[in-house]
Amino acid sequence: MTGLALLLTAPAAHAADTPLRDLAAAEGKVIGTAVTGSKLTGTYGDVAGAQFGSLTPGNAMKWGTVEPAQGSFNWAEADQIVAFAQAHHQQVRGHTLVWHSQNPSWLTNGSWTSAQLSGLLQNHISTEVTRYKGKVAAWDVVNEPFNEDGTHRSTLWYDGLGSGYIASALTWAHAADPDAKLYINDYNVEGVNAKSTALYNLVKSLKAQGVPIDGVGLQAHLILGQIPATLQQNVQRFADLGVDVAITELDVRMALPSDSTKLAQQAADYKSVVAACVAVTRCVNVTVWGFTDSDSWVPSTFPGYGAATPYDENYAPKPAYYGIAEALGGGTTTPPPTGACAATYSVTSQWNTGFTGQVRISCSGASLSSWKASWTYGAGQRITQAWNATCTQSGAAVSCVNASYNGSVPDGGSVTFGFNASWSGGNPVPTVTLG
Ligand code: XIL
Repeated sequence: MTGLALLLTAPAAHAADTPLRDLAAAEGKVIGTAVTGSKLTGTYGDVAGAQFGSLTPGNAMKWGTVEPAQGSFNWAEADQIVAFAQAHHQQVRGHTLVWHSQNPSWLTNGSWTSAQLSGLLQNHISTEVTRYKGKVAAWDVVNEPFNEDGTHRSTLWYDGLGSGYIASALTWAHAADPDAKLYINDYNVEGVNAKSTALYNLVKSLKAQGVPIDGVGLQAHLILGQIPATLQQNVQRFADLGVDVAITELDVRMALPSDSTKLAQQAADYKSVVAACVAVTRCVNVTVWGFTDSDSWVPSTFPGYGAATPYDENYAPKPAYYGIAEALGGGTTTPPPTGACAATYSVTSQWNTGFTGQVRISCSGASLSSWKASWTYGAGQRITQAWNATCTQSGAAVSCVNASYNGSVPDGGSVTFGFNASWSGGNPVPTVTLG
């Protein structure tokens, strides 16, 4: 066969079905995502605002970000995320007040008496929680306090203040915003194990002492096919202590490259985690740690791994997206394309008169030897330049064919081309047809 190997219709860049946040709300849950403030425009902002009911700043509220030099504050990104959340009727989950990582060097390099350290911590917590009083629904007050064996992690805080730093931090946060839900958050505590049992015992004892603790965060940085079998049981045992539970940083990483088998397993994994939360009344929130593979910490932290989020780098919903939707009771969602190649269009940056766009052609269970992507511009947009494809425009009709070197798209692979274009008045996203 010469020419195109397959003739296929591409799904739109956004899932056309009920947004995840609405599905979650119908179950009495909130679905959230970690975000990077500077990216909250264009397609990234559209998806973040439309699909999620809560936002967690990925880095913007960490001590190292907000107070890089002692007494000199930088709230810009945190403020921006909070404003975006308010404009989109989203909760904010504050992350994080007390941690051993991403602290400013003036703090970690200083030599402090325990009284000084305690004063610094109290001041930090009071300042940050007060700034966002009434705007942050829940705080990860203490992050990652335990070792894998359930002993306290040796940190600036534990070493300087003893285990009482946790109760103190919760108490100070409560004083600053009595309405915020206060959490302890950790990783590798999703299943029943030594570490989660230490967390369980801590929460139980804090409750018994009347310390303000409202919730437990299970980060859930998970590996493909390795969802702990005791996840739901573990969520339930925390709930039975009388605290809320949140899945705070969900991602499911796989060895790269991804393929259709791995993506199907990932959909099942996401579905089972969300289903465990849906099954327990006091599990209130599931937050993904970045909703797109282009904004995930995984590739840089776990070399060789990636594709860990529910959307691909080009904002096309992956099978994992539909896994989440199904666990949230979404009955009318479009099934993920099986044995298909699809093209997704996104606007990567936009200014007064122009924009840069990108189309990704991805195959799963199918492949292409050459391709042509076509769309119709509805608002007078005009392509001015293209790369990695040859594009022609006649009236509103655009068609782009592969360059000599990128016609082949393997099963599980993708190619991307880009373009600049002009616009005025509006710049709606067109539906791209492959064929
Ligand atoms: C990660 C961020 O996603 C990265 O951008 C940053 O470089 C390192 O921290 N557990 C946490 C999160 O509680 O704050 C971490 O976030 C991921 C692991």
